[in-house]
Amino acid sequence: MTLDVSGLTKHFSQEKDGSPLSVLDSIHFRVQEGQFVSIVGPSGCGKTTLLRIIAGLENPSAGQVLLDGREISPDRGQIGLVFQDYALFPWRTTLQNIEIGLEMMKVPKKRRRSAAMDYVRSFGLTGFEHAYPKALSGGMKQRVAIARTLITNPKVVLMDEPFGSLDSQTRNELQQFLLNLWEEHRKTILFVTHNVDEAVFLSDHIVVLSKRPARILKTAPVTCARPRDRTSSECNAVRREVLNTLKHARLA
Ligand SMILES: Nc1ncnc2c1ncn2[C@@H]1O[C@H](COP(=O)(O)OP(=O)(O)OP(=O)(O)O)[C@@H](O)[C@H]1O
Ligand SMILES: [Mg+2]
Repeated sequence: MTLDVSGLTKHFSQEKDGSPLSVLDSIHFRVQEGQFVSIVGPSGCGKTTLLRIIAGLENPSAGQVLLDGREISPDRGQIGLVFQDYALFPWRTTLQNIEIGLEMMKVPKKRRRSAAMDYVRSFGLTGFEHAYPKALSGGMKQRVAIARTLITNPKVVLMDEPFGSLDSQTRNELQQFLLNLWEEHRKTILFVTHNVDEAVFLSDHIVVLSKRPARILKTAPVTCARPRDRTSSECNAVRREVLNTLKHARLA
């Protein structure tokens, strides 16, 4: 499996006068099967727009996104998307939220319930399977959101600042939780974050974007051995390189 993002360019037409707002400028990168790739870039540079285009929720103005050389069809469940704000349905319980993708795929109730229960158990949600999202902590909600995405077995998982609204301890726990999942299932993950530490801890490569319209300034390989020590000199060197690139991006 290979995900190719090729020459993606996006303009929005601005509400005030219809003039074009240039958001993405010829974005080009490849993600190989099983890789964990992070995208960092200044606030408002176009990261969410990029993920929305890859997920098929938005059309590009130019360029294309190919999965194994073919255009992605959003209705085939090839791409899973996890949002920062969880986007859980408040009127559905943990189990019902996790099951929703299988429900849309018309998987019979017994089978989807048993698959959702497996996720409840392995995601540490036992005891909360019949709870509604308002009764869950932020970390639990995000685990439900991740389970809901993984249960449909997408080829690529896109994550848009999934841990952005969590406190730092829960965030660290969920980073480790995500890494364990990734190591076990070897999912291909494209992960947007503001947090360079997080990107260095998690990724094989970090794509650094410029301010809007986003261009790729650098793709930094993260070569530190796994399991990673966040404070190792190798991790620090990558962090410094990415932070310097971002600093120049803000000043440019
Ligand atoms: N549907 C839309 N119509 C018009 N403009 C839009 C639309 N969606 C996004 N934009 C604009 O595109 C730019 C990039 O937005 P986007 O949400 O992709 O940035 P981002 O990098 O994800 O920001 P953040 O870091 O704050 O999450 C912003 O200026 C935003 O106002
Ligand atoms: Mg965003």
